[in-house]
Amino acid sequence: MKIVSLVGARPNFMKIAPFIRAIEKHNNNNYNKINHILVHTGQHYDIRMSKTFFDELSIPEPDINLEIGSGTHAEQVGKTMIEFEKVIWQTNPDIIVVVGDVNAILAGAITAKKEKKILAHIEAGLRSFDLTMPEEINRIVADRLSDILFTPDKIANKNLLNEGVSPEKIHFVGNIMIDTLLKEKNKAQILEINDIIKRNFLKNIQEKEIKIQERGFVLMTLHRPSNVDNKNVLERIINFISIDIASYIPVVFPIHPRTFQNLIKFGLLKIVEKHPQFILLEPLGYHDMLRLNMSARAVLTDSGGLQEECTVLGIPCFTLRNNTERPVTLKENGGVSILVGNNLEKIKNELFSLTDESFKPYLPELWDGNTAERIVKVLTNFSNP
Ligand code: UD1
Repeated sequence: MKIVSLVGARPNFMKIAPFIRAIEKHNNNNYNKINHILVHTGQHYDIRMSKTFFDELSIPEPDINLEIGSGTHAEQVGKTMIEFEKVIWQTNPDIIVVVGDVNAILAGAITAKKEKKILAHIEAGLRSFDLTMPEEINRIVADRLSDILFTPDKIANKNLLNEGVSPEKIHFVGNIMIDTLLKEKNKAQILEINDIIKRNFLKNIQEKEIKIQERGFVLMTLHRPSNVDNKNVLERIINFISIDIASYIPVVFPIHPRTFQNLIKFGLLKIVEKHPQFILLEPLGYHDMLRLNMSARAVLTDSGGLQEECTVLGIPCFTLRNNTERPVTLKENGGVSILVGNNLEKIKNELFSLTDESFKPYLPELWDGNTAERIVKVLTNFSNP
């Protein structure tokens, strides 16, 4: 059986690593081998946004890199479709696998179906019900076109059933990204937090003489267009964090390239740059980020993946969004994440009243490290029923 999988951006990489390992395990134990071809669209291309993850997570070099780079959504999706169509012609796979919700999967899903290929989507069924989010559009299209839908939780199953997806297409397998977290946690644990800070200071910014301590800092990430592309919105967040949070507790802020460009464009970089307790870092590798997450007092983020990682680690997570496609991570559903939306004051009230009791890990059903193996089993049975 031949499988082509498509990745493009940072959050895809920690999800494809366990899948590739599970294929290798299958091939070592079975006569019917899987011939796997990994295609990288090249949406993320900086070393820190891509190669670092391949190296740290032992993902083999992509067999094909489409090198589509940055651009508008239409440019990224259009270029990927044009190039990926040629890959399908060349490789003629039995199954095409797309993962997550970035632009690569929208392009991959449409191209695969136009070429009448069997399409599988890992992380299917997540819904924010917010069509202003580019990822929501990507998820809906990929799920609508997929023949095999791998869901991370039962809420996702429900969403798909509500949309009329036939139950036999849906496979509840758990969260593949948590396979990576559970496997890599020990490697992260041995890293020293101040050493991480020292190694990753944002280039060309004066290093601050500040030491952080376990549970004595807040980890912040921001990259959603809805938070960082509008000057007023970004300014409000940055001002709030610097005055109401960073004045009391150090804030470690690894900066995504989109956010960095906008901080400069809107003249906001100087606010965080001159603040003595705002620690600005380059985008972090997997283990460095995981280690900081494990030791943070709390995480402030608009990332979906971090909401999940915080849930498993038991780190209080304040999500700077009005909605989430990952409700299983919310406090009311047993997780750790609180949706803050525009109500930034909520962070202050909750953050400064955290106690030791607030750090409670929660593993939703089947977030057990074996998701990738379940996926490979379904795929092999699908081709040899
Ligand atoms: C993309 C995903 C988002 C995911 C995020 C994680 C979509 C629609 N969005 O958003 O779901 O959460 O990745 O990072 O697919 N840039 C660089 N170097 C790079 C890549 C990008 O400098 O290696 C800069 C470019 O100026 C680019 C900007 O960052 O224009 C945004 O990158 P893009 O890939 O368009 O979207 P992300 O915001 O990263």
